[in-house]
Amino acid sequence: MSISFLLNGKTTTVSNVPPTHTLLDYLRETRGLTGTKEGCNEGDCGACTVMVSDGDSHRSMNACILFLPQLHGKSVRTVEGVATGDTPHPVQTAMIEKHGSQCGFCTPGFIMSMTTAHANGATDHDDQLAGNLCRCTGYAPIIRAAVAAEEVAKPDWLGKDAKALDALKTNAIHPQSSDELAAWYEANPDGTLIGGATDVGLWVTKKLAALDTVCFISQIKDMCQIETTKDGMRIGACVTITALRKATEAIHPDFAEMLRRFASTQIRNTATIGGNIANGSPIGDGPPALIALGATLTLRKGDTRREILLQDFFVDYGKQDRSAGEFVESIFIPTQTDRLKCYKLTKRFDQDISAVLGCFNFHIEDEKIVCCSIAYGGMAATPKRATHVENALLGQPWTKETITTALPAFAQDFTPMSDMRASKEYRLKAAQNMLQRYFLEDTQNAPRVLETTP
Ligand SMILES: Cc1cc2nc3c(=O)[nH]c(=O)nc-3n(C[C@H](O)[C@H](O)[C@H](O)COP(=O)(O)OP(=O)(O)OC[C@H]3O[C@@H](n4cnc5c(N)ncnc54)[C@H](O)[C@@H]3O)c2cc1C
Ligand code: FES
Ligand code: FES
Repeated sequence: MSISFLLNGKTTTVSNVPPTHTLLDYLRETRGLTGTKEGCNEGDCGACTVMVSDGDSHRSMNACILFLPQLHGKSVRTVEGVATGDTPHPVQTAMIEKHGSQCGFCTPGFIMSMTTAHANGATDHDDQLAGNLCRCTGYAPIIRAAVAAEEVAKPDWLGKDAKALDALKTNAIHPQSSDELAAWYEANPDGTLIGGATDVGLWVTKKLAALDTVCFISQIKDMCQIETTKDGMRIGACVTITALRKATEAIHPDFAEMLRRFASTQIRNTATIGGNIANGSPIGDGPPALIALGATLTLRKGDTRREILLQDFFVDYGKQDRSAGEFVESIFIPTQTDRLKCYKLTKRFDQDISAVLGCFNFHIEDEKIVCCSIAYGGMAATPKRATHVENALLGQPWTKETITTALPAFAQDFTPMSDMRASKEYRLKAAQNMLQRYFLEDTQNAPRVLETTP
């Protein structure tokens, strides 16, 4: 496999490397570009951040869990490539002027997240930098630097990269359509599909897994589409969390707001919703919200497709209703008038996995609960509906008494576990509190507060 991409503006071709060779190792060990740092090697700290561009679309990503084939046909900028000759990038100048760097280990990663935000004209700096950890300066001077650079002109190399990308000749090394993927997977049912690699990357960097037969799917165009009709929204499995957040902002704002707290900007730019579902994690953030919205999955094997309710896909811990050679092609959210609410409870507000995630989708008519769908993450071996609680609520008046009466049913639905994120008692209590909070917010316009565990 011969992989071609632009690296700091120059065409680069890499051959004869394992398909899971990371960009970080390539930059540091093969190219001597040691400005990109290795901190955690698992997508958490942001020290390895690079900017990956596709024409005018620029994304910050974690080089430590990016495999080289994911970059085929794209442009990569590292911290060594953001200055123009002797003139630093505007965010570099601002970091110096605002005293944004002390020990400097985190600084290249910050520069790359800020460079990407600058290229995109993004000004939500807290979100843009939530995936970059600094333990020296504190964030205030760094944010001041990002703000100071906002109005400074973009460097010329951005336009030059876009033109050079147009001229870059590449042969396809990934399947280009879901049909090609279906054929590949039928022939290689034991192979590994790789979407964004934000899970699979860690199998390689942390568990030292050797994956030979892999298929990179994140560039399959028909699986990166979002289609909205009067019946609902069909989301291709390769849609990134960033794209999903944007697409749901208007129709399910609380879902989009919860996705703002899904990992970090770098991970959201890379991770796919298909991977978030297919990994079957009991603490994935997408599934509970999608289950509460009544989403269905299209699973495909060869030319055969089947539709199942997402809630039925999760059979048990590590076990999903998916046969060898079958993949998640798309997710469908039916149109609805009810308003979804999501509460993501974590130890830290940003860049943290949920201890408990509660999602509520109710239809109230004449002060009665006509329909209700409640799904949780972090409460069982799979994302799961609270069916006993739902049954206790259905048909009842939408009152505090009804909620109080339904609370004991949580113990019938869930026997959560204790782990480093929360104890089982805490989880059960938190889940009950979320329902009470949903009621209070709905009936008393109670203000939203941030969810973090004590
Ligand atoms: C630092 C960090 C923070 C994170 N924070 C969160 C968080 O806050 N919330 C959260 O929910 N998750 C979080 N995650 C987990 C991860 O980012 C998500 O689960 C992500 O959506 C996985 O998508 P991916 O495309 O990267 O999957 P990949 O790593 O590419 O694949 C994951 C699994 O799904 C399979 N797969 C992928 N696509 C398909 C498909 N279409 N059909 C069938 N199988 C498929 C793969 O073979 C693999 O088994 C975090 C991860 C990291 C590293
Ligand atoms: S080294 Fe920490 S995110 Fe990559
Ligand atoms: S300046 Fe030292 S960790 Fe950020």
